[in-house]
Amino acid sequence: MATKRIGILTAGGDAPGLNAAIRGFGKAAIQEHGWKLIGFRDGMRGLAENRFMELDGASLSGILTTGGTMLGTSRDKVHRMVVDGETRDMIPTIVENCEKNKLDALVCLGGGGTAKNARRLMEAGLNVLHLPKTIDNDIVETETSFGFATALEIATEAVDRLHSTAHSHHRIILTEIMGHRAGWLALGAGIAGGADVILLPEIPYSVEAIADKIERRRSYGSTFSVVAVAEGALNVADREEINHAEALVKDASSPEAKAAAKRGVKRLEASHRANTFTLAEQLEAATGLEARVSILGYVQRGGTPNAADRLLGTRLGVAGAHAIADGEFGVMVGDRGHGTELVPLKRVAGKVKYVPRDHEWIRAARAVGTALGD
Ligand code: F6P
Repeated sequence: MATKRIGILTAGGDAPGLNAAIRGFGKAAIQEHGWKLIGFRDGMRGLAENRFMELDGASLSGILTTGGTMLGTSRDKVHRMVVDGETRDMIPTIVENCEKNKLDALVCLGGGGTAKNARRLMEAGLNVLHLPKTIDNDIVETETSFGFATALEIATEAVDRLHSTAHSHHRIILTEIMGHRAGWLALGAGIAGGADVILLPEIPYSVEAIADKIERRRSYGSTFSVVAVAEGALNVADREEINHAEALVKDASSPEAKAAAKRGVKRLEASHRANTFTLAEQLEAATGLEARVSILGYVQRGGTPNAADRLLGTRLGVAGAHAIADGEFGVMVGDRGHGTELVPLKRVAGKVKYVPRDHEWIRAARAVGTALGD
């Protein structure tokens, strides 16, 4: 039987554990199955431009503990890629490149956007496999994704550290935590770091409810508060405005109207990006305490992966190689506790795992007296 040739790429925002997953997949592919492996540079863009490097035992060695992705990444969409200033459908070129390289399968490591791209390539006839990566933990059909555990540790340490400075200065400190439209990272770090208030996209907040919590703390002598704010958190009025704009997307009667409505949602989301600073001003006015904002930003996803992400990346990577050996394509390798499960991409692409309002983490936060702004 001819040796299999497999392509691999990383796409979307980088996350700790990507290299562990490339290594896990690659070592299993090369050592257990004897396949040839090529790594496309910079995500879907490198695939469209046919830029790649050969991966072998030597190039996969020493990367388990490193952050970022050895292959580079980008946020390009395969069906709408900007090339020489023009938006083009690059799917036919990508299919051609895969044929040119005689690929038996293409492994895509990425989050929600990558799952959608992988599905488009699957529908164009490629043998695709997806491994779930994101610090946001918002991919459906998998318990978690590599990157999340490390980001959770970093964000938790930040929430911890903000306590002593907030306490010393009798201030409110709002810390903005990544997570895109989902609140997993802020909720997890807020609980683990002991934030007094946690604000999530899934639970619209009111300034009065937050100020009330801060006042109650002050009444028993705690003249400071730490507020963990998910980057997608919205107050009640803004949430309603976005819900309305999203309804227009659903009800749009033509592709053009849908695209225009989607742009409307994006515009609104962008205009609410400075929410954390506005909220700080509102809380100062409501409580008379000084407020400061600390945006955690990219430190949450840079740097070395923790043990959990190295383990998860390795497990999912190895399971991905086994899936290809079994001829399983058009699937994501989902994490199910100590095992894995192959999930059809059509059940994953285009979906987002939000924090359910009755989730155990939410109940735990409320039970220990953390306010959620509602
Ligand atoms: O999806 C991962 C993530 O880090 C989100 O938490 C954040 O909203 C986004 O990426 C930032 O994107 P970019 O890297 O394009 O600035």
